[in-house]
Amino acid sequence: MFKDQKFNYAVFGNPIKHSKSPMIHSFFSKQTGILHTYNSIHVPLKDFRSVLCSFFEKYGQGANVTAPFKREAYSFSTQLTERAKIAQSVNTLKKVDNQYLLGDNTDGIGLLSDLIRLNFIKKNYSILILGAGGAVQGVLFSLLSFGCSVFILNRTIENSKKIVLQFRKYGNINIFNQELLNIKYFDLIINARSIYTEESGNVLPLSLISSKTCFYDMNYQIDNTFFIDWCIKIGATYYTNGIGMLVFQAAHSYFLWHNILPETNYIIEILNKKNNMEFKDKLI
Ligand SMILES: NC(=O)c1ccc[n+]([C@@H]2O[C@H](COP(=O)([O-])OP(=O)(O)OC[C@H]3O[C@@H](n4cnc5c(N)ncnc54)[C@H](OP(=O)(O)O)[C@@H]3O)[C@@H](O)[C@H]2O)c1
Repeated sequence: MFKDQKFNYAVFGNPIKHSKSPMIHSFFSKQTGILHTYNSIHVPLKDFRSVLCSFFEKYGQGANVTAPFKREAYSFSTQLTERAKIAQSVNTLKKVDNQYLLGDNTDGIGLLSDLIRLNFIKKNYSILILGAGGAVQGVLFSLLSFGCSVFILNRTIENSKKIVLQFRKYGNINIFNQELLNIKYFDLIINARSIYTEESGNVLPLSLISSKTCFYDMNYQIDNTFFIDWCIKIGATYYTNGIGMLVFQAAHSYFLWHNILPETNYIIEILNKKNNMEFKDKLI
């Protein structure tokens, strides 16, 4: 499969066609002067292990892994960083000494770095997270260790329960319940659902939101996401998409591979302009 390709790094996912990671890594490569080739590889749902084995046996020195393979990448790793162990989910792999595969998770540091850049987070903030999938597993340790309280609201309550059990030893985390309606405003609401429809947008009660609430959509696309459209519709003051998280998590993968942390802010600006994003942050 990789016979004629001499790339060293790649992102693996399904779907993967619209991934911005190759573009981000080409910015990093130009900036640092390190020759770092980076492709995107579509993986059939049942073939993650065989595709990754083939990649690392031939040319691969490092990989990013995206939905829906982060949990498989966790069991595929031969060693794990502390944050990947806690998340039980891996988005970055590194071949070390030609001997073993180190699994890391840079989603948490990626999201936290972007929230700090935007001035969207402070210690003791109360955060509502919509979703309880692999991305949430990746970011919870960072948010809880920063000193925030987290509430999880997810379609499948069983998944919310599992994630709360997994992370409650690291801080203040609870399942969102209806009793909080009318008595609580959230400082930050993060959308980590893979699908956010207009219908699900209307389900979030406005009584949970104040004029100071910040909204962060982990998703990003060429146009506004449904979540961002909904933020605009309800007159939210501060909202943004997940491009910044994407660039920061990529920078921390790059750091694992090359021991250099690239500059990120100008790349976030370029990507947001390219996407023609509606974007309102506290930096303006
Ligand atoms: N910006 C970034 O750098 C970055 C990084 C990581 C992830 N992401 C994005 O974050 C999103 C989530 O990723 P993930 O890895 O957590 O995916 P995942 O593991 O597949 O989890 C998907 C989540 O979305 C929920 N969901 C799916 N369809 C839904 C629907 N129709 N209505 C309500 N909820 C629904 C699921 O709820 P159930 O539990 O009920 O199934 C689950 O909580 C993806 O779109 C991904 O692209 C962005």
